Amino acid sequence: MGGPHPTDEPQREGRLSRRGLLLGGGAAAGAGAALLIGADALVRAARPDATPEGEPAPHGRDVVPFHGPHQAGIHTPPQAHAKFVSVDLAKEVDAEGVRRLLVLLSDDAARLTQGEAALADSEPELALVPARLTVTFGFGRGLVERVAPDAVPSWLRPLPDFATDRLRSEWSGGDLLVQVCADDPVTVAHCARMLTKDVRAFGTVRWAQDGFRRARGSEAAGTTMRNLMGQVDGTVNLEPGTEDFDRLVWAGADAPAWLRGGTGVVVRRIAMDLEGWDRLDRPGREEAVGRRLSDGAPLTGEREHDEPDFAALTPLGFPRIAEYAHIRRARTENPDERIFRRAYNYDVPVAGTAGHDAGLLFVSYQADVERQFVPIQRRLDELDLLNEWVSPIGSAVFAVPPGCEEGGFVGEGLFGA
Ligand code: HEM
Repeated sequence: MGGPHPTDEPQREGRLSRRGLLLGGGAAAGAGAALLIGADALVRAARPDATPEGEPAPHGRDVVPFHGPHQAGIHTPPQAHAKFVSVDLAKEVDAEGVRRLLVLLSDDAARLTQGEAALADSEPELALVPARLTVTFGFGRGLVERVAPDAVPSWLRPLPDFATDRLRSEWSGGDLLVQVCADDPVTVAHCARMLTKDVRAFGTVRWAQDGFRRARGSEAAGTTMRNLMGQVDGTVNLEPGTEDFDRLVWAGADAPAWLRGGTGVVVRRIAMDLEGWDRLDRPGREEAVGRRLSDGAPLTGEREHDEPDFAALTPLGFPRIAEYAHIRRARTENPDERIFRRAYNYDVPVAGTAGHDAGLLFVSYQADVERQFVPIQRRLDELDLLNEWVSPIGSAVFAVPPGCEEGGFVGEGLFGA
């Protein structure tokens, strides 16, 4: 017998956590919930923080600030899981109704993202693991028109029709976007459910889409994601914190005042024909994009971030990166026509078949959707070999207001605009 047994560790940690919860900053975090479920239950729920020796510390307690000049979930390094929920407002909801809804949503999002229970949280234990939870709200044209019809950005409308579109209404449009991202899928589910409850009296869910990347910790932080076609996806992208990002993502002086410091988001559900893709050989797959599958390097380079050489020719005199390659078509000479991509994979088996609806939840942020996103999409629509295997089946555009300060709510600038 004698010395402490390793399995005693969590209990000791548990007692410490309890003190922390009752006396320290955690007390405020758990106060509302403690009334509902009792402090002991909270302490038990807090135990996952107790790390057995030799095991890496869990990162479920990591938080991303909710308040600030920009909403989180855009420049935040992408979390592993995402849920995008689009809401249709009920006909009778007027500007005052929208205001009440946004106050409710912002309040609960502020709590949940900091690891605190929502105001009327029915499962407060689930709120204790924020795992870098972020909630980002976007407004469709329908919402902005109800509050400030004279302050609708010109680009806030459905995208123009593209020949390759196979859009379905059940994946398109909506008055309000709630984007929920975290490194833990239980956290995402709980947060989305709490926020959807807030919406109940004001509207209905139009669509909801789940997305995922690799689990946090599976690869080194900062590794470019892979999509379900196996490609390294996201190499050439605007980089948060740079001047380019600030200028091209955050809405500036030419946007309506309520939107400055915010942005625009395009959410497209792009289905992949993975069966067809399976039949293509490796060189064919690499030609379609213009990059190697193994490491994402351009076909003219050695490493992922090498600059592609679009002038390089094969020994037979053909362009080494084909005219129809996705990266040639997506690239622009105009430095203002760039976007910030923050995509997720999706994969839903289709009942009654042996197939999957799988693909990319293409998500891009840009200050002006018309000037930045549309020209790229037009070029891809005209010519892009990847179109043989991908088809957009959902599409929605939202204006994403700036962040708010403590005590405020997201979208407050719209009132009185
Ligand atoms: C399922 C559909 C799509 C797939 C599988 C896909 C895949 C890829 C891949 C593998 C790359 C190369 C690596 C990188 O730089 O990220 C890339 C680059 C890019 N894609 Fe896509 N993409 C898709 C749709 C789109 C759409 C809809 C747009 C915008 C309208 C877009 C815009 C871009 C841009 C701007 C680049 C960087 C081009 C450059 O090198 O300058 N992609 N994409």
